[in-house]
Amino acid sequence: MNEAQASDTLAFGTAIAGRLETLGTISDEPDRLTRLYLGPAHRRAADLVAEWMRAAGMTAHIDAAGNVVGRYDAAESGARTLILGSHIDTVRDAGRFDGALGVAVAIEVVRAAHAAGKRFPFAVEVIAFGDEEGVRFASTLGGSKARAGRFDMKILDEVDDDGVSRRQALQAFGCDPSRLAEMPSAPADAFGYVEVHIEQGPVLEREGLPVGIVTAIAGVTRGLVEVDGVAGHAGTVPMAMRRDALAAAAEMLIAVEARARTRPELVATVGKIDVPGAATNTIPGRVRFTLDVRSPSDEERRSAVADIRQALAAVAQRRGVSAQLSLGHEASAVLCDERLSDRLARAVAASGMTPRRLPSGAGHDAMAFAGLIPFAMLFVRCRGGVSHNPAEYASPADIDVAARVLSLFLDEARSQ
Ligand code: HGY
Ligand code: MN
Ligand code: MN
Repeated sequence: MNEAQASDTLAFGTAIAGRLETLGTISDEPDRLTRLYLGPAHRRAADLVAEWMRAAGMTAHIDAAGNVVGRYDAAESGARTLILGSHIDTVRDAGRFDGALGVAVAIEVVRAAHAAGKRFPFAVEVIAFGDEEGVRFASTLGGSKARAGRFDMKILDEVDDDGVSRRQALQAFGCDPSRLAEMPSAPADAFGYVEVHIEQGPVLEREGLPVGIVTAIAGVTRGLVEVDGVAGHAGTVPMAMRRDALAAAAEMLIAVEARARTRPELVATVGKIDVPGAATNTIPGRVRFTLDVRSPSDEERRSAVADIRQALAAVAQRRGVSAQLSLGHEASAVLCDERLSDRLARAVAASGMTPRRLPSGAGHDAMAFAGLIPFAMLFVRCRGGVSHNPAEYASPADIDVAARVLSLFLDEARSQ
């Protein structure tokens, strides 16, 4: 019986839910949860998470990419490392579970082991990544890619909406960007990465299951579309003579949605649209909007992006505007590791639950380690499947199950 099974009072779930409540109050905005990479709230959250890690018996530091890295040494030196973690940055007006849940569960499981005087035959690294959402800067996974030794130094020149570069933001955060180039590729001694994450979808709730094991993570293409027409006076330009960038963009959005509806597992989203210099009485001359296309099949996603590019050109041509699609972040669909996932499934079954396997439509830090170290993910039931929304919720009871499963997983994990 491990220390997790001993707790039948939801002790794990209650403690973790309490920490998430606290973390959920640390925001860049007064009346909603927005915690962007390298912002003031990220700094406060990182310092708090480092404190929790140290109280759990780990050493903790903030690395050159702004990740909080906790380490719980192995029973013997020279042992290999299991990495646990997730992200503590959020989207705007976020829920308090996306990302933070995985960090809090990992810390609590290590804290309980430490309190029980237990060491594992491997070191455990708990990482709170800082840039999974990719809201402040164009690229995403900046933190986890740095930990995987895959950081692209070119993205240091990306700027946020205020013109602050990633490099400047790192320096203001107290990091030295030049050290990013020397970060080791995923610790050579790492034998796995396991991430606990709220499902952000409706499947587990629909099937009445508290947790599930992720099989694969959908691939994603992000892009930016710039539509240029002719600005004009709203009162004087006859409709037939207009080159209205916003009306054209509206037709383009419908074309994007129509293409995505053609395939069951394909999704495409225009999440942001911007009309620079917008005014009630001006025909919009320029519009920018984002594109996010995903599918478990890379071929399907790429074909959809190609078709969308053509659809944008056709609308532009018909309406006498120009449309420029520039692609940004792209990540291939990745499969979770069978062996680690089977071990997670055994821990789920040992906890008396059905080990349901399901894919993830959302992206995760785990993708940064694909092809480098094996990884697995455990999903936690998400009320109404609602996420990227303040109504996002995982119950203390389900969180307790996830923590017990992770604790059993650690007990069973061997580093070979
Ligand atoms: O966009 C995603 O899938 C993740 O929430 N960053
Ligand atoms: Mn997430
Ligand atoms: Mn997210």
